[in-house]
Amino acid sequence: MPPEELCKLAVEAMSHAYVPYSGYKVGAALLCADGTVYQGCNIENAAYSPTNCAERTAIFKAVYDGHRDFAAIAVCGGKDGIITGAFPPCGVCRQVMREFCNDDFLIYLVNDKGYETVTLQQLLPYGFSAGKHMSTNG
Ligand code: THU
Repeated sequence: MPPEELCKLAVEAMSHAYVPYSGYKVGAALLCADGTVYQGCNIENAAYSPTNCAERTAIFKAVYDGHRDFAAIAVCGGKDGIITGAFPPCGVCRQVMREFCNDDFLIYLVNDKGYETVTLQQLLPYGFSAGKHMSTNG
């Protein structure tokens, strides 16, 4: 699937966000190695810390369905769903990506002009993971 298509699915996923506290809608679209796509949104909570980010919603949906090999994820977000710039994954989401993804996992950061591409190696270079997905840097 072309990156632009994945980015569109991330934008669509923002409309599913449950964000009564921050108002920041975040969407993600995860591309599995077999071509399947999982969308995710952020789901907030009155106790704040139970909030689940869009990226993790997508990854957890996919893992539940038996997928563990991922090629790319598109991510976008903004106040009231208005994209004014890139919305990069938080540290917790980067660590969850590291559990399943290799250094070359692609992250498309949707911005107001299109998207920019980074790798998991760039976002979390000294990765901690149990075995086969271990970073070559760490
Ligand atoms: N959020 C995400 O969904 N993904 C990230 O990687 C960063 C933060 C959400 C959590 C919260 O609902 C809102 O953005 C504001 O922090």
